[in-house]
Amino acid sequence: MTAPLVRKPLLRVLGGQRETIPPLWLMRQAGRYLPEYRALREKAASFLDLCFDAKRAAEITLQPIRRFGFDAAILFSDILAVPHALGQYVTFVEGEGPRLEALTDPAALRTLRAEIDHSALAPVYDAIVRVRRDLPQAVTFLGFCGAPWTLATYMIAGQGTPDQLPARLFAYRYPDAFAKLIETLVDASASYLVRQFVSGVDAVQIFDTWAGILPAREFEMWCIQPIVRIIEKVRAEIPGAPIIGFPRGAGTELMRYLDAVAVDAVGLDWTVDLEFARSMIQKRRPVQGNLDPLALLAGGEALDRSVDAILAAFAQGPFIFNLGHGVLPETPISHVERLVERVRRGSTG
Ligand code: CP3
Repeated sequence: MTAPLVRKPLLRVLGGQRETIPPLWLMRQAGRYLPEYRALREKAASFLDLCFDAKRAAEITLQPIRRFGFDAAILFSDILAVPHALGQYVTFVEGEGPRLEALTDPAALRTLRAEIDHSALAPVYDAIVRVRRDLPQAVTFLGFCGAPWTLATYMIAGQGTPDQLPARLFAYRYPDAFAKLIETLVDASASYLVRQFVSGVDAVQIFDTWAGILPAREFEMWCIQPIVRIIEKVRAEIPGAPIIGFPRGAGTELMRYLDAVAVDAVGLDWTVDLEFARSMIQKRRPVQGNLDPLALLAGGEALDRSVDAILAAFAQGPFIFNLGHGVLPETPISHVERLVERVRRGSTG
């Protein structure tokens, strides 16, 4: 990569450079804490209708960029677009979350398509083209997908669960069927990410929200290896494609993740110790994170202190400022403004 010529600070960090003022974006930066999002959301019949309305999805993607001037825009969509495009019925229950037709046993896997139906995702690709057109030059455009393990937890349980028990049990009881499901998700996700690049994103993030719940052997089989294969497949089509991994809750397994997975940067959740991250992780790969979303919600001293500690820890290497998970809907706008100001003035005092 000809790093000095890259005009986007976040892409420079993904190329291994350190920026004096770290690029900044927030997971779930487009969402219910924004009044302009709620206004569009109210007019839509459902959350998924909004995701598959290219014009509105593009508009929502741009909302936080206009308001806060973040360094990255992340496509407004949802990781469950992939199960939808594999033929699984997906819906979102107001105030509760996703509901899918649960895959309760190996026979149920036969209801899925063997390959992703790109025509079902046409509005997503259209939204990408629209955002690309309107995005300021210096802003990095991020696409994304869910990691196979995290997708499988929703597909098997049919909803979010506190402990991902249904998928964990399924994987032990029916390892061959589970491996087949993961392989279908690897192919679908790689193909989806390639289309996102072709449509205009600069980089992608692979969200593995439930990476932290598995024992070491299963972590290797169901988290690490599938992501390795996705990255190989994507880069076979898009050489050098910049990719951020976010194995939430991986803890000390982060080391094994980085041994195996050729991500350009790794997202850290808010539980990751700053000194460990600085000395063990950032030495090896650019890092992204890891403010506790609750510190952002709380604001004031707690926010300032947490922001300063993160800036101080990662100042000497390649670093992208972000949360350790998504913005919570109750988060006051003024706290986000305060965060942006503090990160950009680069103060640790
Ligand atoms: O980060 C962004 O701003 C981009 C858009 C984005 C959404 N979801 C929008 C969304 C992204 C990248 C996601 C990823 C996603 N979706 C993940 C992985 C990251 C994570 O948060 O752990 C997961 C597990 C999902 C599945 C999902 N989507 C759940 C469990 C829920 C319900 C809980 C909730 O927060 O409402 C969603 C809904 C969802 N996805 C909303 C948004 C803005 C809220 C929908 C609404 O407006 O009612």
